[in-house]
Amino acid sequence: MQKILVVDDAEWNRELLHEILKDEYMVEMAENGMQAMEKLQDAREEVAALLLDLHMPGMDGYAVIEAMKKQGIFQRFPVLVISSENTAAVENQCLELGISDFIHRPFEGSIVKNRIRNTVELFAYKNQLEQKVEEQYRIIQKQAEKLQEAKPFNILMMEYNSAIMEIETRLKILNAEFSQEYNRNPFESIKSRLKSAASIYEKMERKGCPVTVESIRKHLNDVAGVRVICSFPDDIYRLAHLLTRQDGMVLLREKDYIRHPKSNGYRSLHLILNVPIFLSSEKKYVKAEVQFRTIAMDFWASLEHKLKYKKDVADTDEIVGQLKACADSIELLDYQMQEIRNKIDRSKM
Ligand code: GTP
Ligand code: MG
Repeated sequence: MQKILVVDDAEWNRELLHEILKDEYMVEMAENGMQAMEKLQDAREEVAALLLDLHMPGMDGYAVIEAMKKQGIFQRFPVLVISSENTAAVENQCLELGISDFIHRPFEGSIVKNRIRNTVELFAYKNQLEQKVEEQYRIIQKQAEKLQEAKPFNILMMEYNSAIMEIETRLKILNAEFSQEYNRNPFESIKSRLKSAASIYEKMERKGCPVTVESIRKHLNDVAGVRVICSFPDDIYRLAHLLTRQDGMVLLREKDYIRHPKSNGYRSLHLILNVPIFLSSEKKYVKAEVQFRTIAMDFWASLEHKLKYKKDVADTDEIVGQLKACADSIELLDYQMQEIRNKIDRSKM
């Protein structure tokens, strides 16, 4: 039988909950916060849920939540507040503190039972999933370490890194030429990254591909990633055109998320290139992904990326809507700024 800890200063309430739950759970009881914390010290592993009253003399429900957080035991099992507090503000405050549910008094026995059962099951399921994810993460880290010990893998990484250097050099040369000829820079900065071994392993597994050097070469386009940050949208297309028509560069694929933005508002020009690198005894082609964005698009994408990878962000729907609105404003701004620059250029002639 699973154990439920009921914390309430009113004996009548404790007895009532005991009566409701005793057939399904082993019910432990505490009269106040201090007693509850003591009981949790002894039996925290066995507790399936904590039913917590808010107002109690001495250590109240809020203080129990705070103490549990301090001791790192708050997320071990669900905490359900049972209170006669009826204001939305109090309920909201408790939910924001991270409790799993709020049950109002007076309550119906069968509803309490069902809500507790559902919460306990959901919590256990969530914990299982988290454990699985952690396990998966550990496996990926281990496999990544193994990959990094293999010479062919390190040679492959050297080749991808060379492709990054090749692209960066060609872009920097174009920038230098433009600043001499036209007194302006077509791009502001370049950010490059080599995909980590763990990330490569995870993506290959996700795609259901074997993790071998040949298979990585064939199935991944973005091990070598170069992000080019431009001031104006037309610089993006000019630069992309100049780069792709250069000797040896092969454009494998183009995804134009500027002319065709994603539904979330994401805008960038993506090119998958086959880049020639020159080794001691051969010329080799290596794939690379080049993303072109304006400064404003880049600012937007970093913020949106944070939202994607942050769990437990409140008001996600609202944030998604706000991000889309920002993306639309940014598009307008980018073209207005470009128009101003064009006017300045024309007036200089
Ligand atoms: P991946 O397998 O993730 O590389 O995606 P894909 O093959 O569908 O290619 P896509 O061109 O859509 O995305 C490639 C890269 O562009 C991603 O890894 C991100 O760096 C960036 N990207 C694409 N979509 C978004 C987006 O909606 N938001 C942000 N912040 N970045 C994005
Ligand atoms: Mg990618």
